[in-house]
Amino acid sequence: MLDGVPSREHLIRLAGPPDAGAIGAIYDEAIASGVATFARGPHAAAEREEWLGARGERAPVWVMEEDARVLAWSALAPLSHRPWYDGVAEYTVYVAMDARGRGVGGAMLDHLVQQAPGLGYWKLVGMILEGNGPGLALATGRGFRAVGAHRAHGRVDGQWRDVTVLELHLEEPS
Ligand SMILES: CC(C)(COP(=O)(O)OP(=O)(O)OC[C@H]1O[C@@H](n2cnc3c(N)ncnc32)[C@H](O)[C@@H]1OP(=O)(O)O)[C@@H](O)C(=O)NCCC(=O)NCCS
Repeated sequence: MLDGVPSREHLIRLAGPPDAGAIGAIYDEAIASGVATFARGPHAAAEREEWLGARGERAPVWVMEEDARVLAWSALAPLSHRPWYDGVAEYTVYVAMDARGRGVGGAMLDHLVQQAPGLGYWKLVGMILEGNGPGLALATGRGFRAVGAHRAHGRVDGQWRDVTVLELHLEEPS
C-alpha cells in the first residue's frame, strides 16, 4: 500500500516491450528537469524497446503499474565490466511527474534492494546530479551513504555538474 492511495492496485513487475513507450516518456519528462541525468532525449518507444532487449540478465528493468498505467520504472546494471566488481550495481528509479511524492519512488527502491542479492549484487551505487534533492533524499532516507562528490563530472546543456556518489552495502552492516 502506498501513502495516500490505499484503495488502488499496485504491481511491480519486469518490464517488457509494451512498456517501452511509457518508460521513454517518464525518462524524457525527467530529462527535461535538467537535474536527473546527463542523458538527453527524446526516447521513442522503438529506441527504448531496443534498449530493453539489449540488457542482460543482470540488468533488469521493472515497472510499477497502478490501475494498469505504468507510472514508474527502475533498473539495475553492473557498475563496471571488471569481474572483481561483479557484485556492484548502479540503480535507477524514475517516477512520472504526476505520481511523485506519494511513496512510489520509495517502493521502487525498496524493491531494488530486495531483488539485488538474488542477482548476485552485494552493493548498490547511486549517482545523483547536483541539484537533485529528491534523488538524494530518496536514497539517504533508505540508509545509503554519501561517498563523496565527483566534481564537474558531466555537462547538462553545456553547464558542468557535480555528481554525488551514494552506496548501500547489502551484506556488511553500515
Ligand atoms: C527521486 C524520485 C524517484 C522520487 O520519487 P517519489 O515517488 O517522489 O519518491 P517518494 O514519494 O517515494 O519519496 C521518497 C523519499 O524521498 C523524499 N522526497 C521525495 N521528493 C522530495 C522532494 N521534492 N524534496 C525532498 N525530499 C523528497 C521523501 O521525503 C521520501 O522520504 P521517505 O521515504 O523517508 O518518506 C523522483 O523524484 C524522480 O523520478 N526523479 C527523477 C529521477 C531521479 O532523479 N531518480 C533518482 C536517481 S536514479
